[in-house]
Amino acid sequence: MIGETKAGDDPADGWFPESVAAGYDAPGGANLPEVVTPAVDVLEDLADGPVLEFAVGTGRIAVPLAARGVPVSGIELSRAMAARIASKPGGDAVEVTIGDMTRTRVVGQFSMVYLVFNTISNVTTQDGQVDVFRNAAAHLRPGGLFLVEVGLPGLRRLPPGQDIVPFAVAPGANGGGYVGFDQYDVVTQKFTSNHVTVSPDGTGQFRRIPFRYAWPAEMDLMARIAGMRLKYRWADWDRSEFTAESTKHVSIWERDPST
Ligand SMILES: C[S@@+](CC[C@H](N)C(=O)[O-])C[C@H]1O[C@@H](n2cnc3c(N)ncnc32)[C@H](O)[C@@H]1O
Repeated sequence: MIGETKAGDDPADGWFPESVAAGYDAPGGANLPEVVTPAVDVLEDLADGPVLEFAVGTGRIAVPLAARGVPVSGIELSRAMAARIASKPGGDAVEVTIGDMTRTRVVGQFSMVYLVFNTISNVTTQDGQVDVFRNAAAHLRPGGLFLVEVGLPGLRRLPPGQDIVPFAVAPGANGGGYVGFDQYDVVTQKFTSNHVTVSPDGTGQFRRIPFRYAWPAEMDLMARIAGMRLKYRWADWDRSEFTAESTKHVSIWERDPST
């Protein structure tokens, strides 16, 4: 991260330390009911027994899913994020293991493992992303499902010679403002999301967060390596068709029912 190191942040919490966790559940954005409910509807429908959320965060999805009677466990890297789960009504129903989803194992066989909100991209190497698929498959019973929700990289918006795609320019009411842009390396498939926030007094912060993108076809191969095959690919939680104009996908692979 370029920018201030905030007091109270534990480096072991990665990109989601206490200073980020404290604001993660603020109303609006990804916490709006119209964002959360369609995801929980699909997950409840696909669940056929206990489920496991990789990178469960503060339980934004896991807690409402558990409230519908689905047994939910989670793996999460950041203690600061995970600590929020137990303090939510019904949060104690979600059993969380602190660890890295590329290799942490929890006891049990699950009907589904799911990984939402672009978080596969937080794993910044191809080997690491393959390990996520392998670890998901290792937690599934035969015929179990692995679901990933992730945005597509903005490569079609890159003219030749350009590597930056802006996604927000928001002047503030009293001066200052916010500018956001992604910067792509199409050779390594690494990219960064860049967030420049300037306060009215002229002070500011520049946060630069690393990611790796993988095209859906590459994820299908990762799934094959892990013993799974594509079952569904939708453009969104409404199960609409995935097309050339889609900006994200919800993909579901099935572990071989015979193994
Ligand atoms: C964008 S948040 C998503 C949280 C939650 N799934 C949600 O939908 O609100 C990303 C989360 O992934 C966690 N994370 C990132 N890399 C991880 C890894 N390798 N293993 C486990 N958790 C990870 C972060 O700590 C953070 O809580």
